[in-house]
Amino acid sequence: MVKIAVLGYGTVGSGVVKVIDDNHEEVKNSAGEEVEVKYILDLRDFPGDKHEAQVVHDIEVILNDPEIKVICETMGGIEPAFTFEKRALESGKSVCTSNKELVAAHGPELVELAAKNNVSYLFEASVGGGIPEIRALNDSLKHEKIDSIMGILNGTTNYILTKMEKEGAGFATVLKRAQEKGYAERNPEADIEGYDACRKIAILASLMSGEYVHYEDIYTEGITKITIEDFEYAAKLDMTIKLLGMCKKNDDRFFAIVAPFLVPKDNILASVNNVFNAITVHGNMLGDVMFYGKGAGKEATASAVVADVVDIVRHMDKHICINMNGKKAQLTAKDNAVRQFLVRVSANEADDAKELFGTNITEIENNLGEFAFITDLISEKHFEEKKNTLKTVKGYIRVL
Ligand code: NDP
Ligand code: HSE
Repeated sequence: MVKIAVLGYGTVGSGVVKVIDDNHEEVKNSAGEEVEVKYILDLRDFPGDKHEAQVVHDIEVILNDPEIKVICETMGGIEPAFTFEKRALESGKSVCTSNKELVAAHGPELVELAAKNNVSYLFEASVGGGIPEIRALNDSLKHEKIDSIMGILNGTTNYILTKMEKEGAGFATVLKRAQEKGYAERNPEADIEGYDACRKIAILASLMSGEYVHYEDIYTEGITKITIEDFEYAAKLDMTIKLLGMCKKNDDRFFAIVAPFLVPKDNILASVNNVFNAITVHGNMLGDVMFYGKGAGKEATASAVVADVVDIVRHMDKHICINMNGKKAQLTAKDNAVRQFLVRVSANEADDAKELFGTNITEIENNLGEFAFITDLISEKHFEEKKNTLKTVKGYIRVL
């Protein structure tokens, strides 16, 4: 029997306990041993809860108990989670977490600390909720030369964009629904401003490069400027709008970006809706492979945390190697990336826009009293320069 502790009894933490309760036999068969939750650390008490007797408020109880072999950190945030995880690893306990903020900020250091103490540090649930893409990158795809990872990495924003497109729903209303469903971060700004997707692509890019891609080096735009009118234009173009994170390797450097993109309806990412995420990985031998599943939510995310528990129990007293180290990866600026853009300006600036962007633009008819067009292929740098000379830009979106 292996005894574990869960730190944080919120959406994900309570899900972890539920998975271990409901799938007790399956977890046992998979891990090769019974797994029991001995402690649940939280700030609150949970009177009437089936597990109220396991709830403790002092981390020392858990750290000082030699029976505890695995700690699931599902509290979120940097501190005190970082200190708790470090102390757990130093005291010879393996850690698994859904806390992408912490993994993106300190992942290499924690992986190194785990190796030093011959325990494991796993974070499957930190990217793509329940989707098992990190284990695949770290195992089945490890022999591949991966040159691109791209996808829909945030459940909350994909839920919001889907409801805006299909129901014409207002941004604030749908964000509230996503929060009620337990998809959103404690501060939902992390979701809607793209910071969460940025941390996730930074983690994936770090695994792809074997180095450390710092999330603050990644150009990031969220979805707060996307409007119902943008979806009307997308429909006219037979496209939809998705918040994408992407990382591509060029020579020995990496380019990464998070931004909303117009995605053609015949692209497989266009049909990834609601809380679902999808991640495409390109390997030099394999070609494209795609991972799809629920990107947020209690049970799906908890399932990924429990997958890490199982992996750790199966490799007890061994360190599970993770392809990530503290050497900073070299990122290129977004300036040289070439693509098309949808641009919307006031009708009275149409002539200036045509003069700036040339004759190869495609105008889009509208009854909004504006001039909307798709640019020719243009570099990010030149687009930025030209856009900044226009006075009435109502919006712009990149085209995939
Ligand atoms: P919740 O806010 O629902 O749960 C966090 C829990 O941890 C709360 O019960 C909170 O208590 C408790 N907690 C916070 N600080 C402490 C502390 N110092 N000591 C003890 N307990 C503490 O968050 P989620 O479950 O949604 O998210 C947890 C982590 O998982 C985050 O990193 C998040 O980004 C990540 N994640 C979430 C997903 C989701 O779908 N929700 C999916 C994938 C990852 P209190 O409420 O009293 O503050
Ligand atoms: N807030 C995150 C999301 C949770 O919506 O994707 C899963 O990481």
